[in-house]
Amino acid sequence: MKNTVLTFKQSKIDGKKLTMLTAYDYSMAKIIDESGVDGILIGDSLGMVVKGEEDTLSVTVEEIIYHTKAVKRGAKNALIVADMPFLSYHVSKEQAILNAGRLVKEGGANAVKLEGGANVIEQIRGIVNAQIPVMGHLGLTPQSVNAFGGFKVQGKSEETAKKLIEDAKLIEEAGAFAIVLEGIPAKVAELITKSVSIPTIGIGAGKECDGQILVYQDMLGMFNDFIPKFVKQYANIGNVMREAINSYIMEVQNDTFPEEKHCFKIDENELNKLY
Ligand code: KIV
Ligand code: NA
Repeated sequence: MKNTVLTFKQSKIDGKKLTMLTAYDYSMAKIIDESGVDGILIGDSLGMVVKGEEDTLSVTVEEIIYHTKAVKRGAKNALIVADMPFLSYHVSKEQAILNAGRLVKEGGANAVKLEGGANVIEQIRGIVNAQIPVMGHLGLTPQSVNAFGGFKVQGKSEETAKKLIEDAKLIEEAGAFAIVLEGIPAKVAELITKSVSIPTIGIGAGKECDGQILVYQDMLGMFNDFIPKFVKQYANIGNVMREAINSYIMEVQNDTFPEEKHCFKIDENELNKLY
């Protein structure tokens, strides 16, 4: 059954944990969707895991649309959430609505996600008024990497933790249907989760959140440039891939691939005429 924002809201009421993963293309979206996650995020993490950049800042609206279209075709049941890239919503409410609208109209997203609290409340309100569901995102928001002076855990002091709780309440009031909490102390995430009636989706935010999200390359062991503390590798698909690719190279080099069953045939009569 297709998940909607109502599924997300109801899950919190029912105390049923939500699961989300990122995806960027059709094949992976299909596998992830068939596995039964509640939501798929076309994250601007694609700047790092797909494009190989050091941060997410270079990602464009066009890139998110391109990947959202591909994911959309592969995902039948998961709620499709598309990330709003850096500077696609900071300038004005009008620009934010137009860019969110493109992710829905052109990409086929069911909802958009954007980073920030009090500083983006007008934008959240505007997008929600345009009938586009919004997911908030607080804590170690990667688009703030330069402002934070690095990818640093947020909300570790009373003052900053309070600010996170206030921001979460503002995001709920502005009409968002869920909030991602990234890279904050588990106890702070627990306080936020209890302070709002919309579900919190954690990544590096402990187990008291209403759900969890991970980047699939991280949890499948396909991205080893660095492994954040909050990542659990549920498999080492990277090694499985390397082994398979090595086998392919060896079999081509020693003439064991392709075999007869992989080959196409020509009729004997036709073949004889060739000689
Ligand atoms: O871009 C992304 O993948 C994200 C999630 C990790 C929350 O924003
Ligand atoms: Na993101």
